[in-house]
Amino acid sequence: MVDLNEKKARDQWGSRFGFIMAAAGSAIGLGNLWKFPYMAGKNGGGAFVFVYFIILLLVGFTLMLAEIAIGRHTQLSAVGAYKKLSEKWSWLGAMGVLAGFLILSFYSVVGGWVINYIIKSVTGVFSTADVDVLGGLFTGLITNPVEPLIYHAIFMIITLAIVIGGISGGIEKASKILMPALFIMMFIVMLRALTLEGAMEGVKFLLAPDFSKINGEVILAALGQVFFSLSLGMGCMITYGSYLSKDEDIVQSAMIIPLLDTAIALLAGLTILPAVFAFGFNPGEGPGLLFVTLPAVFSKMPLGSLFAFIFFVLVLFAALTSAISLLEVTVSYMVDEFRWERKKATFTMAAIIFLVGATASLGLGVWSNIKIVGGRDIFDSLDFTASNILLPLGGMLMCIFIGWVWGLENAIKEASNQGKLAFKLAPFWGFLVKWVAPVAIGIVFLNSTGLLDIIKGLF
Ligand code: PFF
Repeated sequence: MVDLNEKKARDQWGSRFGFIMAAAGSAIGLGNLWKFPYMAGKNGGGAFVFVYFIILLLVGFTLMLAEIAIGRHTQLSAVGAYKKLSEKWSWLGAMGVLAGFLILSFYSVVGGWVINYIIKSVTGVFSTADVDVLGGLFTGLITNPVEPLIYHAIFMIITLAIVIGGISGGIEKASKILMPALFIMMFIVMLRALTLEGAMEGVKFLLAPDFSKINGEVILAALGQVFFSLSLGMGCMITYGSYLSKDEDIVQSAMIIPLLDTAIALLAGLTILPAVFAFGFNPGEGPGLLFVTLPAVFSKMPLGSLFAFIFFVLVLFAALTSAISLLEVTVSYMVDEFRWERKKATFTMAAIIFLVGATASLGLGVWSNIKIVGGRDIFDSLDFTASNILLPLGGMLMCIFIGWVWGLENAIKEASNQGKLAFKLAPFWGFLVKWVAPVAIGIVFLNSTGLLDIIKGLF
């Protein structure tokens, strides 16, 4: 059983299934259920999903194995791991910590909305499929200056309590039941959404790519989404990998986790977008999509309120298993690097993250006139900076680190358990790590900043 809180005793995962469920628990969260459908809706549907898949294949699987291999090799969490392999690179771990910090701040705000929706489902608010009513309900919540802050605080407190109390036993055990439960529940709700009249339009929107919609912005959004959804680029999987025993087949695990994550994202997309079309919502609506369309689907189901309740509880659980991995990354950094006491680190970080998150929440309402990164409100600025810049940048630098500093040979030795396992794709993986992934991420960056055009203009 693992205790991510106890750095000194190097515990290990109870079983390989336990590790996969816990890592999938970090990967599967609001990124799949809330963000993927609305990002797809905003960025051209099928065009976004198409680019997402290409990046997943070239970069997602590659980096998942890379992070787990570094973690298992060093048996340390991110900062310590880089330090051990090369003192000069420890700042890369620190950059990941910053990304985790920023992500959790707005993640917890959304987690708070989920808690509010659990309560709404119990009080029978979702008995209508009226777009305006449901839209108004959501907007009313997120623009309120006080209410969402209370729920944001509750979400943060639950996350803090789990991280302080130790995530061993409970979470690993709960993940094993609740993750499969989420899967089944998603499947049932998807069937209902797909059988709504007009739903097929949504399926087409999501799965049939209109290639003319692909542009720099869509590609950057898909890149950020792959990193966000798989918990990559900030050393989270390094930490989880550090608790794996030396004889686990990490190559196989690194394939299963992205597959599970993608399956859930697709289930969510195939539920929410068909409902969007069936009820005449706007697919480009943004962050409200999950909270506005799903209640409409539930209102069309027998025992709809019960379904809504169970569904939002499972969403909350998925969000919490991701949030604890985010908080853990920042806390273990303070403990390892600054020798803070664990309790002090957890309370302090949670408090600061709460405050930053509060500004994000207010940025959707009373402070909506404040625009920072590229004209975005505070909430979107945090998301954009962390997901679309820091995570991919962290991933690119990690590839460079493995390919050119630590060395492919060492990485492949670790991945294949010192040659004991047949890792047939090793040369291909090495090529992806050393060349394809960093170059691809670099090009997306250059392209989205407009630098690529300038370079092209020179020739
Ligand atoms: N992967 C999580 C999600 O999809 O909700 C979010 C996340 C967790 C991102 C942990 C990064 C991370 F390290």
